[in-house]
Amino acid sequence: MASLKSRLKGNQRTIEITDHGVGSKRMGNTRSLGQLYKNSSSKGKYGKLLFQLMQHYKLESALELGTSIGIGSVSLSTGNEAASVTTIEGCPSTRKEALSNFELLGLTNIHSLEGTFSEVIPKLDKGTYDLIFIDGHHDGVATLEYIEQLLPYTHDDTFFILDDIRWSSSMQSAWEQLKEDERFHVTIDLFRMGIVLLRPQQEKEHFDILL
Ligand SMILES: C[S@@+](CC[C@H](N)C(=O)[O-])C[C@H]1O[C@@H](n2cnc3c(N)ncnc32)[C@H](O)[C@@H]1O
Repeated sequence: MASLKSRLKGNQRTIEITDHGVGSKRMGNTRSLGQLYKNSSSKGKYGKLLFQLMQHYKLESALELGTSIGIGSVSLSTGNEAASVTTIEGCPSTRKEALSNFELLGLTNIHSLEGTFSEVIPKLDKGTYDLIFIDGHHDGVATLEYIEQLLPYTHDDTFFILDDIRWSSSMQSAWEQLKEDERFHVTIDLFRMGIVLLRPQQEKEHFDILL
């Protein structure tokens, strides 16, 4: 991760992005690699969280919605190099940067898929993921739809990790709905991110652990 940081932090090289989510109109469609790095949710403590969840629970499979230049994928991948990490990205030029970062780090357990989330999710291989990181298209209604679409790919202990639960009123409302949803027995508010688990084997509980 340190070599990725030195490669990307402050890097002025720009790429043209295709936005399939609710991107920033103010910033237009050109981004420097340094900006993409700076705006990544997964550098610093939240990246460490992804890494530690993979490592501590020896998670074997993870799915990420929204690769960008690959910072979150790298945290998931290096947390358990024996795991398989699948990551979906709709913007071809951003995905190309991610692939080059994975190659630079010699990571071979990341499977990168190109397309919009709604196109790619129905085509995912059968099976379940131990962790699903939703970090793209930060719209509350879309986020709830992705969770519904992904439920067939979960087991009782799958971690759903949602980024930017306070980013907009629609994301906040989606988070409130997930907290109330009787199907999800564990919800954890980490302030920027939220964790949701089905865990039907336990009483419904909510935790505030503000990172
Ligand atoms: C916040 S970035 C992801 C950051 C990355 N997970 C990380 O940890 O650094 C969100 C990414 O999701 C992609 N994206 C947004 N909406 C999408 C959609 N509906 N389908 C496919 N990709 C989408 C964007 O192109 C962008 O690269």
